[in-house]
Amino acid sequence: MEEHLTVGRVAELAGVSVRTLHHYDAVGLVRPSARTAAGYRAYSAGDVERLRDVLGYRRLGFGLREIAELVDEPATDAVAHLRRLRGLLLDQRDRAAAMVTAIDRELESRAMGIRTTPEEQLRMFGPQLYEVIGSDYLATRRTEPRIAARVWEALGDARTVLNVGAGTGSYEPSDRDVTAVEPSAVMRAQRPPGAARCVAAEAEALPFEDQSFDAAMAFSTVHHWHDPIAGLREMRRVARRVVVFTHDDSASGWLHRFWLTRDYLPEVAGLVADRPSVDQLAGAIGARIEPVLIPWDCAGGFFEAYWRRPEAYLEEPVRRAVSVWTRVGPEAEQRAVDMLRDDLSSGRWAERNRELIALDAAELGLRLLVA
Ligand SMILES: C[S@@+](CC[C@H](N)C(=O)[O-])C[C@H]1O[C@@H](n2cnc3c(N)ncnc32)[C@H](O)[C@@H]1O
Repeated sequence: MEEHLTVGRVAELAGVSVRTLHHYDAVGLVRPSARTAAGYRAYSAGDVERLRDVLGYRRLGFGLREIAELVDEPATDAVAHLRRLRGLLLDQRDRAAAMVTAIDRELESRAMGIRTTPEEQLRMFGPQLYEVIGSDYLATRRTEPRIAARVWEALGDARTVLNVGAGTGSYEPSDRDVTAVEPSAVMRAQRPPGAARCVAAEAEALPFEDQSFDAAMAFSTVHHWHDPIAGLREMRRVARRVVVFTHDDSASGWLHRFWLTRDYLPEVAGLVADRPSVDQLAGAIGARIEPVLIPWDCAGGFFEAYWRRPEAYLEEPVRRAVSVWTRVGPEAEQRAVDMLRDDLSSGRWAERNRELIALDAAELGLRLLVA
C-alpha cells in the first residue's frame, strides 16, 4: 500500500500548524485522501505535492481562493507548477534584492545628510518596466550586425566581457567569455539556450570584484537605469575597458532631428529631460564619444531603427518592443500613430521628409562611449 504521512508529521515537516491543515481540508484546498486506523488524516504523495504547491503560492502572498483556482487548473501539471513557482520566487528574490540596494543607498544618503526625493523613496516598490513590457521584446529586437561590429571592435582584445542590462543577449559577442547582468526575470527567461550565464543584478550595484573583467559593455540600456552615472562607474570599477551604446538626448540632438519625435511624439522630450547628457555620461568614466549612424534597413528594432520605413511604426509589435511607446502613455501613442497614418496616406510625411529617402544611413544621436 502507498505510504501516507499523518497530519502531525506533515505539519511538522512543512512548518505549519495542524489547525491550518484542518482548515485547508475543510475548505477543500488539500483533502488528505486517507485516514489512519486511529482516524487521523493521512496524506498520500499526491496530497503532499498539492500541499507543497499551495504553501508555495501562499508564501508568495496569494489568497486561498486564488490558490484554489491555480492548483485546480486542469492543464497545469506538477512540473508546470514547479516552473511557475520557481519563476515567481526568483522574481520575488530579485525585487527583495533591489529593495535592499535601494534601502542601503537611502541609509548612505541619510548618513551624509542627503534626503532622498519622494520619487526615489517610492521607486523600489514600482515594477521594473521590462517586467511589464519585456515579453514582446524578441518579436522585433534583433542584433544589427553593422552596429554589433562597432561594439565588438571597441571591445578590442578583451577576452572576458561583462554585458550589463543584457536583456535577451543581443549584441553579446560569441567569440569571448561573456557574463551577463540583467535585473528583469522576464528578459532573462527569453535568453536563448546556450546564451552566456546571466546574473540577476542592477548596473548600480554590480556583484563583482574590482577589475574582474577585461571589458564591460552596455547596449541600449543606460537610459533605463535609476542612476546612470553610478552604473557607469560600477562598470569602470569591475572592468578595464568600458563600451556603451546610448543616445545623445540633448535638445539640439536627435529629438529635433528625428521626424518621429519632432512631428508626432514631442512627449519624448519630457522623458529624457532629467537624464544626464551624453557628455556627462562620458565624463563620468573618461570616455571618448563616437557617433553611430543607423543604416536605413537596421535590424535592431530600437526606437529610431525604422527612420526610413515609417509604416513600421504603425505596427503594434514594433511599438511594444520599444519602451518609449509605453512610457509616453496610451493617449500620446494613439495620437502619434493616427497622425502618422494620416500623413502617410496623404503624402504629407513623404513631402516633409523628402531628403531622407536618398540617405542610406542617418545620424540620429546614437553614440558609442569608449573608455
Ligand atoms: C532596451 S533593453 C536592452 C537589452 C539588451 N542590451 C539589448 O540590446 O537587446 C534595456 C534593458 O535594460 C535593463 N535594465 C533596466 N534597468 C536596469 C538597471 N538598473 N541595471 C541594468 N539593467 C537594467 C532592462 O531590464 C532591459 O533588459
